[in-house]
Amino acid sequence: MNENAIVFDRVSKSYPLYHHIIGGIKRFIFNLPGAIKAIKTSRYEALNDVSFEIRKGETVGVIGRNGAGKSTTLGLIAGVMQCTSGRLTVNGRVAPLLELGAGFNHELTGRENIMLNAVLLGLNISEVKERIESIVEFSELGDFIDQPIRVYSSGMLARLGFSVAAHLNFEILLVDEVLGVGDQQFQKKCYDKIIEAKKSGMTIVFVSHSMPEIERVCGRVIWIENHTVKRIGETKEVVTAYLKAQENNG
Ligand SMILES: Nc1ncnc2c1ncn2[C@@H]1O[C@H](COP(=O)(O)OP(=O)(O)OP(=O)(O)O)[C@@H](O)[C@H]1O
Ligand SMILES: [Mg+2]
Repeated sequence: MNENAIVFDRVSKSYPLYHHIIGGIKRFIFNLPGAIKAIKTSRYEALNDVSFEIRKGETVGVIGRNGAGKSTTLGLIAGVMQCTSGRLTVNGRVAPLLELGAGFNHELTGRENIMLNAVLLGLNISEVKERIESIVEFSELGDFIDQPIRVYSSGMLARLGFSVAAHLNFEILLVDEVLGVGDQQFQKKCYDKIIEAKKSGMTIVFVSHSMPEIERVCGRVIWIENHTVKRIGETKEVVTAYLKAQENNG
């Protein structure tokens, strides 16, 4: 029962830093070799030395200010991006993370994307057909379900992404602010679905800026600040510390 679903062991993720050019385009051009070298060697750390463990069946919240590294953390779990250093272990099938463009094709329709995900999961044709109906119904996308998803609004994409993630048999569900994008009635449905997924033993990593939501859903919370873990612990304790720090800062 104590098996880990996700383990981050001193994980860092950095990006090349392109902002050097802002230092002056003229200086950049006249010092091209030096400038190119600087760009190539300078990195921006989106996550720095992050370690934590999430056990199978746990629901863990990830909180922190804008740009702290929350979506990067989910992207690494989803395998959309690779860490630059450290070790990352994920045990279980991770639901596609639409927000990061993983697992969905923008030229395919909503229905085709559902099929793609179902087939990749190894469902047979009759299972696929059965699931499609419940996913389409849950998403309430109406005729849009047969339109390519590039024409979807961000709220519609969130509906499709969440519907697929919640209805197919994944073991790990990543939720990045989805409840913030949908309208109120859809938020309520998503919330109910998350509680249901939680009861069924799914491992859930839940990113949100809404502390009431975090408190309702999560057993433990990881607070990320300045691209590293500030605190991990029981939900109430971490949320209280986070809110207090926000008050003091602003
Ligand atoms: N593809 C990228 N290239 C360069 N920098 C990036 C890239 N993606 C993210 N970053 C940077 O990494 C940092 C962490 O970003 P991330 O999206 O993980 O933040 P977040 O905690 O999810 O923020 P938010 O609450 O605004 O969603 C940010 O400073 C961001 O600018
Ligand atoms: Mg984010």
